[in-house]
Amino acid sequence: MKSVQIGICGLGTVGSGVYNILQRNAELINCRANSAITVTHIGSRRDNPLCDIGQTRISRDIFEVARDPDIDIVVELIGGTSVAFDLVMMSIKHGKHVVTANKALIAENGAEIIAAAEQRGVIVAFEAAVAGGIPIVKALREGLAGNRINWLAGIINGTSNFILSEMASKGRAFPDVLAEAQAKGYAEADPTFDIEGIDAAHKLAILASLAFSIPLNIEGIFIQGITQLQQLDIVYARELGYAIKHLGIARQTDEGVELRVHPTLIPEASVIAGVNGVLNAVMVDADALGSSLYYGRGAGSEPTASSVLADIVDISRTLDNPPSSWVPTLGCPLTRLVEQEMIPVTNIETCYYLRFSMFDAPGALSDATKIMAEAGISIEAIIQKEQPVGIDYVNVIVVTNRIPERLLNAALSKIEQLSSVQGSVFIIRLEHLDQ
Ligand code: HSE
Repeated sequence: MKSVQIGICGLGTVGSGVYNILQRNAELINCRANSAITVTHIGSRRDNPLCDIGQTRISRDIFEVARDPDIDIVVELIGGTSVAFDLVMMSIKHGKHVVTANKALIAENGAEIIAAAEQRGVIVAFEAAVAGGIPIVKALREGLAGNRINWLAGIINGTSNFILSEMASKGRAFPDVLAEAQAKGYAEADPTFDIEGIDAAHKLAILASLAFSIPLNIEGIFIQGITQLQQLDIVYARELGYAIKHLGIARQTDEGVELRVHPTLIPEASVIAGVNGVLNAVMVDADALGSSLYYGRGAGSEPTASSVLADIVDISRTLDNPPSSWVPTLGCPLTRLVEQEMIPVTNIETCYYLRFSMFDAPGALSDATKIMAEAGISIEAIIQKEQPVGIDYVNVIVVTNRIPERLLNAALSKIEQLSSVQGSVFIIRLEHLDQ
């Protein structure tokens, strides 16, 4: 059996998980990789009490790992895009294969990294970068290789899903749940990446590249996080038969691709609506297969490490084969990826949940619904609750039919100008995930 030596850079939540699983399942993993896999060098500024590394060499300078002549695969788990970029590029330069869980790095610098790897004849693998332990990269790149992907939609940030699920099921406050997600190691070092949708956008860029054979690119993705949502939206949505999930949506249209990340109402009866806590799920609609769903833990130590190990096993098996026999990193060779037009969010067409505050006076509601009717917006559902004595403003909730977003926006600015309407109209996009 050939020997494969691994260098792990970063011994945090995921790094310790990789080390621990490799010890626990060594025999099985070696058998599957047809190699004797050993971690022989760790690069980490500090030790991790969750991981007993015994006599394994540890360097406080992670670049020592990239320079170590005995290392075959460098596992980059430090996160961020500056030091991590330098580490990955140096590893490639030294002829190391690279495994990373770093979605920001792949989404933002993937083109340069993969080009360097192709030129040097090494592999860069990133299964762990999207949806934690779910093998969605392999599914899109290999399992669905014979399909044209129509669209995909997924819960791809575990932290946001954990927060929304706890707010919905237990009525817990946002900051309290976020603190728990951080303590459990789900959240990014900067949790605004999770709650403002940036982490999900990085993952969507990777999924879109794999699905549509387009270059990695985060420009043009519409990004909205969960911080503007209120508990009352979750309650009203449920009353109307919907759950609110933070989704990444990628759709192939005749005009180009639509890439967007935002809170979304989805029917409570849909499978994805039942995906709660840190779980992720990606639904893919493909021309030959139809719909398929990939579901599992999207963050955390061992779930994410599970994907890192899958890449280590894949690379170990491949080491003796020529690069021409390897599965291209993004499904197609870099030179075969084709740019497409990015459709701006104002040009999408979907259904909407609208919430606005209105003075409780005769005719006020009909002024608003008249504007909608004139814009061709059909109201599918409406809620207005009786208010306690002394409160003059009421919340009005409207669910619309499908309409181009630019037409909706034009109607909403007229509604916001009505003297009876207070503040702006809050909108949440609504998808049925069936077309
Ligand atoms: N912060 C990420 C999440 C970790 O919550 O999904 C996994 O990528």
